[in-house]
Amino acid sequence: MRLHEHARYPLTFGPSPVQHLRRLTAHLGGAEVWAKREDVNCGLAYGGNKIRKLEYIVPDVIASGADTLVSIGGHQSNHTRQVAAVAAHLGLKCRLVQEDWVPWDDPVNDKVGNILLSRMMGADVRLDPHGFDIGIRDSWKEALQEVEAAGGKPYAIPAGASEHPFGGLGFANWAFEVAEQEKALGVVFDTVVVCTVTGSTHAGMIAGFAALAEETGVPRRVIGIDASATIEKTREQVARIARRTAELIDLGRDIRDDEIELLDGWAGDRYGIPVDSTMAAMETGARLEAMITDPVYEGKSLAGLIDLVTSGEIPKDATVLYAHLGGQQALNAYHRLWS
Ligand SMILES: Cc1ncc(COP(=O)(O)O)c(C=O)c1O
Repeated sequence: MRLHEHARYPLTFGPSPVQHLRRLTAHLGGAEVWAKREDVNCGLAYGGNKIRKLEYIVPDVIASGADTLVSIGGHQSNHTRQVAAVAAHLGLKCRLVQEDWVPWDDPVNDKVGNILLSRMMGADVRLDPHGFDIGIRDSWKEALQEVEAAGGKPYAIPAGASEHPFGGLGFANWAFEVAEQEKALGVVFDTVVVCTVTGSTHAGMIAGFAALAEETGVPRRVIGIDASATIEKTREQVARIARRTAELIDLGRDIRDDEIELLDGWAGDRYGIPVDSTMAAMETGARLEAMITDPVYEGKSLAGLIDLVTSGEIPKDATVLYAHLGGQQALNAYHRLWS
């Protein structure tokens, strides 16, 4: 089954904008750097990358007859906020497990930003003391059982929507959207840089660009920048989801190991805690382009991009597309970084 044969429930306002980052490009002295802005594809509660994944999951939700979406993330999870948004949009209930993924000791961490928005949208938000893990969690399974015991019909959406069988399709589709925008703009992006944690954004891109290359013969480098700080687990998850997505879209060949490029060096020691390179990249993006990034995800991938271009690992003649996946809603929980 090819990608366009999979049911998709539109949740975005159309293609996300692509922007030439001229001042960042000049600052780095090449490569040419552009950004594709999932953060402003904000039809539902400020949007972000999960909305695209959910576009391919919602048809299954509707077919299942479920009345409650059940998902999981950290206190400042962008993912759970987007699940709450989609539940509100569809008229469903939403039960969220918000675990204590980040040792970020701030009294507003479980009150402002993403979690505030989820509560405002009517989600049943429950805090849970467990720490960070991108895998399937008992706390989430328990929430599913509780919804059932109360007479509801739950629909299970794992962390980041990544372990869902259709989790990779949204960003496989993104690759084809990029190809259309390239034609309109008259550019070809030979390199894509993306932040990777639960893996299906990166994995979907790998499968999607592989399928596109089968059609066009144009190969691309899709570089994931790890922000999980548990890179081996994330790499295994990316590889597995990329291969599953490739099968779902009928790629006709296996994904090679060399197509799975996940780089270490910018996550720091812990998920959710910014390091010096994160702070520097966030300031560079903000001060040169007014492009706001967050300390958990995009600040780390932007730091990776800046270093890879500066070191020549991404060559000067490359044309790079930075996938900005959202995440700014968490910023207020990190107010003390600049106060
Ligand atoms: C803003 C932002 N960037 C990047 C990611 C990483 O995406 P993925 O979990 O699909 O690897 C996430 C979610 O985890 C996110 O919310």
